[in-house]
Parts: sequence; C-alpha cells; structure tokens
Amino acid sequence: MLASILFPSFVALTALAASPDDWRTRSIYQLVTDRFATPDGSSPTCNTDDRRYCGGNYKGVINKLDYIQSMGFDAIWISPVVANVEGNTAYGEAFHGYWTQDINKLNDHFGSADDLKSLSDAVHKRNMYLMVDVVVNHMVATSNPPNFGSFEPFNQQSDYHSFCFIQASDYDNNQTAVEQCWLGDENLPLADINTEDPNIVSTWNSWISGLVKNYTFDGVRIDTVKHVRKDFWPEFAKSAGVYTVGEVLHNDTNYVAPYTQSLSAALDYPAYFALTTGFQTTNGNLSTLAAVVQSGQSVYDNGEHYMGSFLENHDNPRFQSLTQDQALVKNAMTWPFVQDGIPVLYYGQEQGYTGGNDPANREALWLSGYGEDKPLVQHVKTLNAARKAAASTNKDFYTSSLKFLVDSTNNLAISKPPMLTLLTNEGSTSTPQWNVPNAGYSANQELIDVLTCTKVNADANGGVSIKGSGGNPQVLLPTSALAKGGSVCPDAATGAQASSARSLTVQVLGSSLAIVLSLLVAFS
Ligand SMILES: *[C@@H]1O[C@H](CO)[C@@H](O)[C@H](O)[C@H]1NC(C)=O
Ligand SMILES: *[C@@H]1O[C@H](CO)[C@@H](O)[C@H](O)[C@H]1NC(C)=O
Ligand SMILES: *[C@@H]1O[C@H](CO)[C@@H](O)[C@H](O)[C@H]1NC(C)=O
Ligand SMILES: *[C@@H]1O[C@H](CO)[C@@H](O)[C@H](O)[C@H]1NC(C)=O
Repeated sequence: MLASILFPSFVALTALAASPDDWRTRSIYQLVTDRFATPDGSSPTCNTDDRRYCGGNYKGVINKLDYIQSMGFDAIWISPVVANVEGNTAYGEAFHGYWTQDINKLNDHFGSADDLKSLSDAVHKRNMYLMVDVVVNHMVATSNPPNFGSFEPFNQQSDYHSFCFIQASDYDNNQTAVEQCWLGDENLPLADINTEDPNIVSTWNSWISGLVKNYTFDGVRIDTVKHVRKDFWPEFAKSAGVYTVGEVLHNDTNYVAPYTQSLSAALDYPAYFALTTGFQTTNGNLSTLAAVVQSGQSVYDNGEHYMGSFLENHDNPRFQSLTQDQALVKNAMTWPFVQDGIPVLYYGQEQGYTGGNDPANREALWLSGYGEDKPLVQHVKTLNAARKAAASTNKDFYTSSLKFLVDSTNNLAISKPPMLTLLTNEGSTSTPQWNVPNAGYSANQELIDVLTCTKVNADANGGVSIKGSGGNPQVLLPTSALAKGGSVCPDAATGAQASSARSLTVQVLGSSLAIVLSLLVAFS
C-alpha cells in the first residue's frame, strides 16, 4: 500500500524534471543577472571597465521576460546564484557570480530566495525553462594562502588540493595538474576543492539536488568542468536530475568527447573556435567548421545533439569585436539555430553589442533600450521561428543529424530536412553562388528564404541553385512548412493555418496533468 502511494510520486517527480530530450527542442537565452535588467526599469550608468555591480537582479529579469520570449526563446540561463566574495578585489566585484564563498547562501545583490523562486515560477508559467550556472571546481579567495575559514562549507585547508598554479604547458601535457592545481593568480587564487574526498563528493551531490529542487531549476550549466576529474561528474549529474551542460574549454572534439558521457552534453567549444575563425574575416575557412562538426557527430556521446551551440558568451570577446561586417555577423549568428545541438544566444548579441574580452563583453543591456526593431533582434526572432516551423513539419527534425551538402572554404550548404541553410564568409560586398544538386526536395518544390521572404523553386531533381546578394545567409524552408497566419513570411506561407485552439488544448491538458501529478505528490 505504502509502496503504491510512493510510486506515483516518484513518477510525478521524474515526469516534471527536464531531461536532455526535453531540452533539445529549446532555445536558450544566456544572461548575466547583474547586467540584464534593473527591477524598476531604470538605466543606471554601468562602466564595464569598473567591474562593479550595476544593479540588475531577478525582479529585473521577471519584468523583461516578454522581451526574451518574444524573440522565440523558451529557456533562460542565468549567472551563478550563490554568495560570492564581497567588496572590491584586484579584479573588481563579483557581479558575474563566479567567485563562490558560501554555497548554502544566495548572492543577495540579485534578490532573496523568494525572488529567485518568483523568477522560476514566472518562467514556468510561460512554459519556459530556467537553467542555473554552478561552480564546483573551486572557491575564490582574495589572498594567498586563502583564509580557508571564510569558506562555507569547505572551510579546512584539507578540503583543498595542495597549492600549485596550473602552468600553460600543463594544458597539453598534464591533465592531473589541470584537475588538481589551481586557477587564478596571487591576487585572486581559485582554491581548488579536493573533489577526490568522498565527504566532499557527497556534500556536492546533496547540494546540487537541493538547489535544483528548492528553486525548480530545469537545467544546470557547470563551470570549469575539465578542472575536475571526469569520474566525479556522473553522480553529480544524476543528483541534479535534470539536463546538465558542461563548460569544457578546448578546441579538440576528442578532448571534449569523454565529458559528453559524464554529463548530458558540453558547450560546443570546438565548433565555437571554428565558427569564429571561419566567419571573422573573408579569409576564414568554413571547411574547418564542417570538419569539426562532423568529428563531433562521430565522437560525442549523442553526436552533436544536446550540445550547447553558441557564438558568444561571458568569457570570450563578442563576435562584433572581431568584425562588424553585418553579412559575416548574420552568417555566424545563423549557425547555432540551424545545427543539431541546442542554440544558446548570449544577451546583448541581438542588440549588436561589440564588447571585447572580459570585462568589456558584460555590458548592461538596459543601455540598449531593449529595442525590438533592431535588425539582429529580427534575425534571431526569425531563426527561432524557422527552427520551430521546421520541427512542426518534420517530427524527426531535432533527432536527425545535419549533413553538409556543400563544404568549401567560403560556402556551406547545411541540410537538416526540411531546412537547407546556405552560409558564406565572402562578406557584404559579395554575390555568393551555391549549387546544391541533391538537396532532397521534391521536383520544383516551392521554397522560401525565411530571412528575406524571397521565393525560389527547387529544380527538377530537387536541387537548389542560388545566387545570393550582400553576402547574406539564406535559410530555406518549403513554403508549405510555414503556417498561414504564422509569424514567418505570412504572405507566402502555404502550410496549415496557425491554430491557437490546438495549442490551447495542449496547454489545458498539460496543466491538468500537472495538477493531478502534484496531488499525487501531496498525498504521498
Ligand atoms: C603533473 O602535475 C602534477 C601536479 O603539479 C605533478 O605532481 C606531476 O609530477 C606532473 N606530472 C608530470 C608527468 O609532469
Ligand atoms: C534547500 O532547502 C532546504 C530546506 O529549506 C535547505 O536546508 C537547503 O540548504 C537548501 N539548499 C540549497 C542548496 O538551497
Ligand atoms: C587547437 O589549438 C591549438 C593551439 O592553438 C592548435 O595547435 C591545434 O591545432 C588546435 N586543434 C584543433 C583540433 O583545432
Ligand atoms: C580548410 O579546412 C579544411 C578542413 O580542415 C582543410 O582540409 C583545407 O586544407 C583548409 N583549406 C585551407 C585553404 O586552408
């Protein structure tokens, strides 16, 4: 009897936790909580060079969810939430959240526990997901040796690996040093936690389980994953109980691959390096991107599926600090939305921000005015919508693996049926030509570039031959994949009428199911 009462609650809990399969249909907006929005909508000055708290918080995020959702994002990755080093350091204040002091307290610059729960509720009400960012590898000190007693809970020197800084040469030659020596420098040492100690392991595992449950997070982004032994991660990921995506900063797919077995996936750094070098000048080599992605498809645990695909983040210079050729920018920005993994867009990219290396790439978004008429906001909106449209006509869209039908130095044709994406790094003065003989369409099928709403027909063999203009990318879909009355090229769409009735039914069914499941939990 007891077991039969407990069993449904177990089912309910697992049904509610978001798995990698739940995440693969999502599109993620990454934000730095301090820099995204203020609670009262004010626009205080925020000089990135100062590295100070600028006043963004959870209430600010709640007030700006419309802005995020209207671009088509259905998941948000927020910066770390736990209590950090207070006050000024050699590198400014801990506004970014990555300088952990106490894993059991929240960083109150961003609001209270109730504010964070309100954010989680507000996100879930919109059927969006919330991802939290966590650091497990280290605590952060303002002196060397650190004042170990100031850390919570790992407050003994013996909770840490013995002191040595990681040397540049270690990255290629000594993985033990990468895992057990320290990051940081004399001014701000990152005290490396002894993640071999079983007590520490079990503290971390129950902590992540509690954190995810307390705030109903749907996913966890994990910092500095390659700095912790690989076999630490499977239990940690299991304890989190949701999708986990790790930062493994490396350009080689073979280095990253083992971490895709321990976690749900990794952030796709190998593709990131090829993407930025491929598109930052007209001399880049797009074949390298194709080669890296094909390697990822074969060596990652689930191919490129579940990988976080990004062009920018808080650790790397914004793409527009490398080039401001808008054709190159639009091509590079298109990639994360047309590949096998989960798209991640770093806040501010849509507003055309140009900040270089940290701290310049952490600009306050309020200084942009959140204008929704900007060209790149529209670009992102269309790309998110195109991805959903492709998935709505091909149920295998998310699970299928893309193919490069053209793979040359300057041009790529990427097939992920029913989507065919044409990318070029020839730049804004070029008129690129793509010849894709076997694109997989039916004879003379009517297609449309969703970025310009320009129609083109496939040839008699289902191939596509197109001359582009202004070096722009093209994202082709059959006009029949676009819903009449939908948001993408509505005048040309020939697909079934966009139906609000159907999605309403699904929502009503979804929430009654949630009520039934929570009743089961309540009664167990
Ligand atoms: C790797 O680094 C560790 C930690 O610094 C050190 O003890 C060990 O000797 C190094 N191994 C090699 C082969 O250099
Ligand atoms: C989760 O909530 C419980 C109960 O209030 C508390 O004991 C625990 O410290 C919390 N854990 C985290 C990581 O917030
Ligand atoms: C990664 O970067 C290193 C150092 O720049 C380079 O030597 C190596 O060829 C790169 N590897 C790949 C797979 O791109
Ligand atoms: C471009 O990259 C491909 C794949 O890595 C390589 O085979 C080719 O030689 C490169 N081309 C140039 C011009 O460097």
